[in-house]
Amino acid sequence: MPHLLLPLRRLVRSALAVGALGVLAAVLLWATPPAHASLERSPVEPAELARAVTEMEQLDRMRVALASSLEGQSDAPTIETMKEVCKPVGMKAMAIGKENGWQVRQVASKYRNPDHAPSNGQEREVIDLFHRQQAITGLWQPATTEQGTGVNYYRRINVVRSCMACHGTKASRPAFVKANYPDDKAFNFKVGDLRGMYAVFIPDKQSAPATLVNVAD
Ligand code: HEC
Repeated sequence: MPHLLLPLRRLVRSALAVGALGVLAAVLLWATPPAHASLERSPVEPAELARAVTEMEQLDRMRVALASSLEGQSDAPTIETMKEVCKPVGMKAMAIGKENGWQVRQVASKYRNPDHAPSNGQEREVIDLFHRQQAITGLWQPATTEQGTGVNYYRRINVVRSCMACHGTKASRPAFVKANYPDDKAFNFKVGDLRGMYAVFIPDKQSAPATLVNVAD
């Protein structure tokens, strides 16, 4: 009875889809500390976690705005205007880190600046997860043993059209990129690809020794 089988198959398919969503929700739940539970369990205040999310959203918007303002220019971009996209984003990331007592990095497996290569197993795993699961935008992880106590927040960076001027084909990269980044790997991207991620380490300031806090200031 094919006409009965069809709805049945549909039912199975939607059950599978719901199952998949359940798994995704589990990943997201695991990734996002529930506000109440984290008061007892997380070594960092929920308000500070929320601030990290907001700061990274703003930082990402800053890059997209800079890149698209360049795209809209009718004059041929000069070397100076061409430089005004990702370098200032990196500087702003450092400034946000300093202001808040966090470490803020950009991380990419296909990096342009070698300082942005993944620096530990956790970063490599999270990049890999973002790569495989396009629907995951951000997630939390506990601090690594080397970091001590605290929380890591990771946020994906995707390629949009305005990035292509500098992260498109190898040959089409601007001259200043070819000259200044001899080991560049950050080309041949397509719109929608994962470009990298922001990595924020929020240390547990309560448990940090006073001398360390002073040094950080
Ligand atoms: C005008 C050229 C230019 C444009 C446009 C541009 N980038 Fe970049 N990008 C660079 C340069 C140069 C670097 C290396 C900066 C440094 O030395 O820290 C870089 C580095 C990065 C990094 C840090 C990781 C790494 O590879 O070193 C990310 C992430 C990144 N770009 C993403 C983007 C995204 C997303 C867009 C589009 C919204 C974009 N870029 C547009 C030139 C550009």
